[in-house]
Amino acid sequence: MNYRVELDTPCLVVQKQLLQQNIDEMAAYAREQGINMRPHQKTHKTAEIAKMQMDAGAIGVTCAKLGEAEALVDSGVVNDVFLAYQVVGPRKIARLLQLMDRAKVSVAVDGVESAQSLSEACMADGKTLDVIIEMNTGLNRAGILPGEETERLAEAVAAMPGLNVKGIMTHEGHVAKAMSQDELDSYGGDAGQAMIETAKRLREKGINIEVISVGSTPGSFSTTKVDGITEMRPGTYVFYDSAIFRFGRIGPDRCALRILATVVSRPSPDRAVIDAGSKTLTMDPPPPDRQGYGYVVDEPDAIIARVSEEHGVIEFPSGNSKLAVGDVIEIIPNHVCPTVNLQDEMFVVSEDGSIEAWKIIARGKVR
Ligand SMILES: Cc1ncc(COP(=O)(O)O)c(C=O)c1O
Repeated sequence: MNYRVELDTPCLVVQKQLLQQNIDEMAAYAREQGINMRPHQKTHKTAEIAKMQMDAGAIGVTCAKLGEAEALVDSGVVNDVFLAYQVVGPRKIARLLQLMDRAKVSVAVDGVESAQSLSEACMADGKTLDVIIEMNTGLNRAGILPGEETERLAEAVAAMPGLNVKGIMTHEGHVAKAMSQDELDSYGGDAGQAMIETAKRLREKGINIEVISVGSTPGSFSTTKVDGITEMRPGTYVFYDSAIFRFGRIGPDRCALRILATVVSRPSPDRAVIDAGSKTLTMDPPPPDRQGYGYVVDEPDAIIARVSEEHGVIEFPSGNSKLAVGDVIEIIPNHVCPTVNLQDEMFVVSEDGSIEAWKIIARGKVR
């Protein structure tokens, strides 16, 4: 079966063999390093891929939102979830307590107030919740600073009934600002080192830090090189996207997911219009070494210069292109995770050409 002919566009096409290769390679690396694998589900939001990750040796999964975790737990393939997100407010806490009846759950915490609310709710429900202190190692998003700040919070949380301080975590997403592998290793190494030093401090205070968790696809082979890291949580690695090309290890041939789009107009020689706009490609900007809203596999020099909701406008710097109305092209997104979140299903192509539709069960689960 030729998927370019069989499938209607725009849609997501996944090469199953590449997906398996990406999952197996990262799982093998984690094993070699002696690190537990807890892959982030926000990238694929799909039970079949969660199962492939568990089969490859993951100890459990990471989710951002409760809705994502609920969908995956209810699918039956996942029973151990780390919510790498602050759970705030009575509605969310009630759902968290319910989820704890169906799966092993741990939660990120980065403040006394939110920890206090979790503690009170767990006490009232007769439960104990594992919490992981979220640290900011450079991304400047959520999380508190390594060292004294983390020590103060960990001590306060350790004294709260109903909560068990199980470890520390960081999302070292800032490593992606690196422009070379050396820079990447240096940012990743610094983040990993800050985690280890803080863990040592907490252990000296008598806090039992079992988990030292890091996570980011670009930093996967850097942060984890620091001795003592116990867990990694990459997400994007299952598909990869154009954001990683500049580091050299991964190129378009390793990107397991592509957007299939059709040329719907050739209004001038230097312009083609495709049926994928911002509602398919997202508005995520390109990485620093690229231009436009995605990498056109069929014509790598082409630039998806503009998007409106349902139109992508491709420009050809060379002034010519063979693309004609009706042609189907493949695009690697700038950022694959929000792209997946926009579709109901992905079409998975096996080596024999057969196509399966996998439902993206946690798409839109942002609550
Ligand atoms: C908390 C957390 N952990 C892990 C990851 C995985 O990072 P990546 O998408 O680079 O694989 C993310 C990504 O946003 C994250 O927010």
